[in-house]
Amino acid sequence: MMRTASHFFFAAAVSTLLPLAAFAQSSSDQPVKPEEHADEVAVAYEDDGMYFTEDDIPTYKVAEDGTVDWMTFSGFRRYHSECHVCHGPDGEGSTYAPKIKNSAVHLDYYDFYDVVVNGRQNGNSVMPHFGDNPNVMCYLNDIYVYLKARGMDAVPRGRPAKKEAKSDLIREMENDCMG
Ligand code: HEC
Repeated sequence: MMRTASHFFFAAAVSTLLPLAAFAQSSSDQPVKPEEHADEVAVAYEDDGMYFTEDDIPTYKVAEDGTVDWMTFSGFRRYHSECHVCHGPDGEGSTYAPKIKNSAVHLDYYDFYDVVVNGRQNGNSVMPHFGDNPNVMCYLNDIYVYLKARGMDAVPRGRPAKKEAKSDLIREMENDCMG
């Protein structure tokens, strides 16, 4: 009697948890249709080489000839030194870590930040926390805009060939952050 009851309880628990687990994974698995997100990445203003949306969220800028803003270029480099080992080259994902070029489009900026600062664990699947790592935290906006540009297919795979110069403001912020 007890046994049947606990089996039933287990089955019920699994069936309620499964959709949640699937949901937790979905932002990276979900394909990106760039035209649906155009408003979320549109440049509203520039602050000395850094580009922002109307909601003050950092975004990328790619010129017609393929020249990328400095942050996108820097994000490419930082991503490949800190994240690529798990998330695969160009944000494409691997067998054990999600395709975060899509996550950068589907996740809210603050949620994206939160996962990187605090880490996340889902059974054996572990995203480390980077909140105390200046090599990540001082460049997280760069990594974010780079991945967003990848998710939106605004930049091809590989190292961007042409980039804007690093501005004085970006240099100052970097020095202040790295200490
Ligand atoms: C040691 C391997 C590892 C490294 C290094 C790593 N990650 Fe992760 N990351 C993971 C795993 C595994 C997950 C999935 C966690 C889960 O299942 O909840 C993840 C999840 C994420 C997510 C959530 C994706 C989503 O769709 O919900 C983001 C965002 C993320 N990582 C960003 C980064 C960034 C940025 C870096 C580099 C600074 C990085 N990760 C470095 C393993 C890693």
